[in-house]
Amino acid sequence: MATAYGIDVEPLREIELDRSLDGDGVNIFEAFEVASGNAGDKIDPYPEFHRMRREDPVYRVPEDAAGRTYYRNSDRPVFQVYRHEDVSRVAQESDLFTSEHHSEGIGQIFGKSILEMNGDEHAMHRRLIQHAFKRRDLARWKETLIPDAVNQAIDAIIDRGEADLTREFTLLYPVKVIEAMMGLPKEHVDWFHRRAIEEISMNLDPERAVKASLLLKDYFRQVIEIRREHPGEGDIITLLIEADAGGKRLSTDEIIPFLMLLAPAGAETTYRGTGTLLFALLDNPEQFERVKQDRSLIPRAIEEAMRWDPPLTFLGRRVSQDVTFQGITLPAGSNVSACLASANRDPEYCEPGDTADQFDLFRPRKPNLTFAAGAHVCLGQILAREEMGTALNLVIDRLPGLHIDPEQKDRTYMTGETWRSPNQLPVRWEV
Ligand code: HEM
Repeated sequence: MATAYGIDVEPLREIELDRSLDGDGVNIFEAFEVASGNAGDKIDPYPEFHRMRREDPVYRVPEDAAGRTYYRNSDRPVFQVYRHEDVSRVAQESDLFTSEHHSEGIGQIFGKSILEMNGDEHAMHRRLIQHAFKRRDLARWKETLIPDAVNQAIDAIIDRGEADLTREFTLLYPVKVIEAMMGLPKEHVDWFHRRAIEEISMNLDPERAVKASLLLKDYFRQVIEIRREHPGEGDIITLLIEADAGGKRLSTDEIIPFLMLLAPAGAETTYRGTGTLLFALLDNPEQFERVKQDRSLIPRAIEEAMRWDPPLTFLGRRVSQDVTFQGITLPAGSNVSACLASANRDPEYCEPGDTADQFDLFRPRKPNLTFAAGAHVCLGQILAREEMGTALNLVIDRLPGLHIDPEQKDRTYMTGETWRSPNQLPVRWEV
């Protein structure tokens, strides 16, 4: 009987993968970056974020002649807010700043997931889903599944003494974690990874995004039906099927959007976060040395990397009642984009004289907004920290003398406007 982490995956092998989108030879990394709008050039939005925070902290995005904004071609007013106090309010006050706008964007692809729910409906679904993210399960994932996924990715490069860690490591291991958490057969991973990337490439290729989302939904429907007949043990799909909040259980149609969200939420953000963490340390060798000498600094390094350059720069919300920021009123029904990346570097929030633009392991610790806050605070944040910590620990253990390839250092940088991560991480180590 074939098993993965004690989960019987054999019954899922009967699913026939629809390969109609395969075979175009597209490199998965390039597809990912292009889909996220990162075509490779260096982009540093921070000087503009600093200017906006100082001079235009509540910015109304200009409308075109037809009264529309760039924002999903909507005719609603769109505002951007940049100061920590305002961004923090947008994240925390979920009755005033609701998540229904997601239904007009990514919700079209996922279906109705917790991301776009509000109030009691959101709270009830989140309670049910949290059942599948309990500490007991996280502990099990931490001990086996995460190190296995990280080690497999390192095994493939370890003898070479050089690699691009973005394409060959950070891109690959988080999707293996999600696949193992869902208890899917290993031979489905590549198919699953491609569809997860395609489903979020709405801006680039809407037709392909819709098609990929239909294929994924059909795939998950089959997985759920099989798991109802043959429950796994501790995999997230069986946990969701069995979750019970006072007699309420999730239907197949309610579980599918969550799995649709989990695939990119788990794979894309952690890929970027791990890349940023490694880049920040490799670019600051003296701080990397301190971490290597004292592994108890790893949680600090993760928090600081996530503060310094969060994978996702903006958080979107819909204003439910008129609200005033810095003397400017946002009418009910407006969309608001709160700049997490700007808030994390707000000097009003950091210590006086602080250099918020620098990655500094030893700065006074304060919570940052990278995983949002309030009712929709990232459900996978403990898992994400665990993954990044394991990745860093094992990279230090297994790749001695790790450093950025000096010949490519100048061509290695953070990039992206909405999604941030290093463009590449060409490294060398001792073999
Ligand atoms: C560095 C890694 C990560 C970052 C920076 C991150 C960031 C975020 C942010 C900013 C949100 C709020 C989105 C919104 O309300 O519009 C969010 C929500 C969410 N994240 Fe993450 N995330 C990360 C990793 C993960 C992982 C590994 C998972 C699960 C495997 C995950 C699952 C979710 C889910 C399910 C939500 C929706 C929560 C809700 O609406 O109640 N995330 N994340």
